[in-house]
Amino acid sequence: MISQHAENVKQSAIRKIFNISRTLDDVVNFGIGEPDFDTPAYIVEAAKKAMNEGYTHYTENAGFPELCELISVKLKKENNITANPKEEVLATCGGMGGLYLALRTLLDKGDEVLVPQPAWVNYESHISLSGAVMVPVRLEKERDFSLTSDLLAGYITEKTKVLLLNTPCNPTGRIIQEEELRKIACLTGSMGIYIVCDEVYEKFVWEGNRHFSIASIPEAHERTITVNSLSKSFAMTGWRIGFAAGSKEIISNMTKLQENIYACPSSISQKAAEAALGVESDDLDKMISAYTTRR
Ligand SMILES: Cc1ncc(COP(=O)(O)O)c(C=O)c1O
Repeated sequence: MISQHAENVKQSAIRKIFNISRTLDDVVNFGIGEPDFDTPAYIVEAAKKAMNEGYTHYTENAGFPELCELISVKLKKENNITANPKEEVLATCGGMGGLYLALRTLLDKGDEVLVPQPAWVNYESHISLSGAVMVPVRLEKERDFSLTSDLLAGYITEKTKVLLLNTPCNPTGRIIQEEELRKIACLTGSMGIYIVCDEVYEKFVWEGNRHFSIASIPEAHERTITVNSLSKSFAMTGWRIGFAAGSKEIISNMTKLQENIYACPSSISQKAAEAALGVESDDLDKMISAYTTRR
């Protein structure tokens, strides 16, 4: 018999429609969050080189130390997040892997997770797989889907363990401004609530807006797990490579889970990620500029 928790997990309707669309001709795909660019050539070449050089084995559970170092440098430079590459950083199987490990590491049965809505569909399944309960925080279209600490405060109970943020947000595109994030850091700090911040769309910011990482705020730093991925920014969705950063205690436990679920992200994808993060290239700018034109 299938377990209750497996039966309870929902399959995203987006995926169902996507699978049907693949069987039909003449369908325009407005579906899954998938850049229509190929992965930049220098990244693909780095992966081929890695395979030829024999990087085809298990790696450290947290990922190659060289990759963790590059992730740590990126987080400092672009997000002002300090993360020790040896114990506060983890390479994951996409942002999805990071989110799953983060939530499984923090949540117990009955815990509540605040999730501003509308939200990406998979959060709910990640939360229910941990036996926890998703508490939707309704954002209003009339208020531009803005999230405020005052609104959040009304949803907090003694069971609230985690606040799941997604900035920039899929599907609204909305970013949470620094000023509001500072208030949220204070609010959650006073209640001991952890924050999981999904930043996979950090490069997709327009109209003079600026992405800001809540983990760069000292009050939130120890309680925040930042989840990010190369899927969207580097058009690498199929490589399944991402990363997470957080306190030593949290990251060591996420690493332990990763060891027991899939050991490590693909060694080849990790080497590709090293090229993506470590080599200067204007491919990213070109993709963003094309998105801007289309927009
Ligand atoms: C908001 C959000 N977070 C995380 C992900 C996961 O992306 P990946 O696992 O490919 O890094 C997606 C994918 O669509 C997403 O939309």
